[in-house]
Amino acid sequence: MNATVRQILQRKGSNVWSVSSDTLVYRALQIMQEKEIGALVVMNEAGEMAGLISERDYARKVILEGRSSRETATKDIMAKELYSVAPGATAEECISLMLKNRVRHLPVLDNEKLVGLVSIGDVVRAIVKEQRTTIEHLGDYISGKYV
Ligand SMILES: NC(=O)c1ccc[n+]([C@@H]2O[C@H](COP(=O)([O-])OP(=O)(O)OC[C@H]3O[C@@H](n4cnc5c(N)ncnc54)[C@H](O)[C@@H]3O)[C@@H](O)[C@H]2O)c1
Repeated sequence: MNATVRQILQRKGSNVWSVSSDTLVYRALQIMQEKEIGALVVMNEAGEMAGLISERDYARKVILEGRSSRETATKDIMAKELYSVAPGATAEECISLMLKNRVRHLPVLDNEKLVGLVSIGDVVRAIVKEQRTTIEHLGDYISGKYV
């Protein structure tokens, strides 16, 4: 049985934290700290998803490039190439997409509507839980519990 994104969202909730593309990077970092998250979806003026900003974008595109987080807008450093999943995608499909494209967060789209976000932590946790259950069942089977 493969855990799906839908099941992960049922546990963690479908709320998505976002900022507008004009929000300063400094403010975005404050929100990440307040919410204890590592990424924010960036919305454009039309209210559409325009990108994603992560702590990694800050480290690489602000600090290492000598910019100021108080003068740089999220739109200037956000990742514009977005990788998303549908609610029916499995945890394994998510991890493959994350590893292949070196991203840690995937917006969840249902018919182009943003309905959630899953992180690498969410996905790994779901896979570990599933594997633990399988091992327990196999252990019970081997020890004759089902006889
Ligand atoms: N306590 C929990 O439920 C939980 C869940 C996942 C990860 N973690 C821990 O957090 C640390 C880092 O985790 P990570 O690398 O997966 O990423 P992260 O720190 O960005 O994610 C932490 C949690 O916040 C959620 N999140 C992140 N950005 C979000 C956004 N913009 N909108 C809505 N939800 C958002 C993620 O889905 C995840 O559940 C790890 O130490 C991990 O073990 C804890």
